[in-house]
Amino acid sequence: MLLPTLQRLSAGFFLGLRRGLGRCGDWLHEQPRLTGWFYPPRDDEAVEADYREFNLRYFAGFGEQEKMLADRPRMDFYHAAITQLVRPGDRVIDLGTGTGILAAFAARRGAAKVYAIDHSGILKHARRLADANQIETVEFVSTHSKNFTIEEKVDVILHEQMGDYLFDEAMVPNVLDLRDRLLRPGGLIVPNRFEFYCEPVQLNAERRIPFIWELKVHDYDYACLERSRPQDPQYYRHSSCDLGVVQHFLGVAEPALTLDLQTLQLADLPKEIRLTRTVVNAGRLDAFAVFFRASTGDGLSLSSSPLDAGRAPHWGFRMLRTDAAEYAAGEVVELTLTVKHWAEPDTWRWRVGTKG
Ligand SMILES: C[S@@+](CC[C@H](N)C(=O)[O-])C[C@H]1O[C@@H](n2cnc3c(N)ncnc32)[C@H](O)[C@@H]1O
Repeated sequence: MLLPTLQRLSAGFFLGLRRGLGRCGDWLHEQPRLTGWFYPPRDDEAVEADYREFNLRYFAGFGEQEKMLADRPRMDFYHAAITQLVRPGDRVIDLGTGTGILAAFAARRGAAKVYAIDHSGILKHARRLADANQIETVEFVSTHSKNFTIEEKVDVILHEQMGDYLFDEAMVPNVLDLRDRLLRPGGLIVPNRFEFYCEPVQLNAERRIPFIWELKVHDYDYACLERSRPQDPQYYRHSSCDLGVVQHFLGVAEPALTLDLQTLQLADLPKEIRLTRTVVNAGRLDAFAVFFRASTGDGLSLSSSPLDAGRAPHWGFRMLRTDAAEYAAGEVVELTLTVKHWAEPDTWRWRVGTKG
């Protein structure tokens, strides 16, 4: 009798403590001048360590893996690219093998040896799947890629480390690390070319979610909330997988950044991107849609564009929201995107220039 009562009291006390600490944390995040006193500065290493922890839990279960495997354009792209580019006898690394599917494609193509590495618990299922599918030339290695090492270099690195924001699954540091240590000179990365887009868009009026202070719901006016604009950058980002959300691009889409992982150096990634778009489709600027195109340089490509009917559907396209502004044809939209850590979209900041 006494023990359950004490347990209830203790659980109640810790619940109250967790709630109190949670509220303090929320309050602190809204006070940017104070956060430096409570949280250590986030350098590249801290960002990477946090992301590793998140990533290995996120991909451990079947839920995320099945979304990726059911994405037909994604799987067709990788199947075609591996069939075209992996040659019989090749030595291959599959960085982040998940269920082992890309490693299996390479093995079936005749690769002599495939190292399939993954740091998450999904690997035990990948091993079972390979046995069940009579895949014999794949060696599964349970580790983070930065800890993986072998004596003889490989001919090909396969990877699928693209996040919705392209950079947010740490693709660039992970692939460059393996490339520099374990890819033979002249070896191939699949995919290796990337275009990163950040296009001004008008959203579909019925699907657009305005900022709360823009709303008037049956004459109930929210304008006074503009004074309390949130400081949290997450509030200014939206995500969708739904093709109907973006009505049109205001300009002609062009890559804001192009990357070639065969030659890129980490230091080449800019800390600021400026882009201008001459408006060809007049309308309201609601947001900048972030998406990407991956390719192999041999005519095969994979797109996450919100206006591409053949896009790979499991990637969300992200929107960097802006205050709504009308643009006529011929006017110019300017964007300055500053980035502290490419892998952490919370550190991205964007500013829209005055109309030209
Ligand atoms: C986007 S999934 C792709 C899975 C698989 N390659 C596919 O195409 O279906 C990324 C996988 O890589 C793993 N991963 C991510 N970063 C890694 C790293 N640096 N080292 C090892 N595994 C990693 C995750 O656990 C996850 O299973």
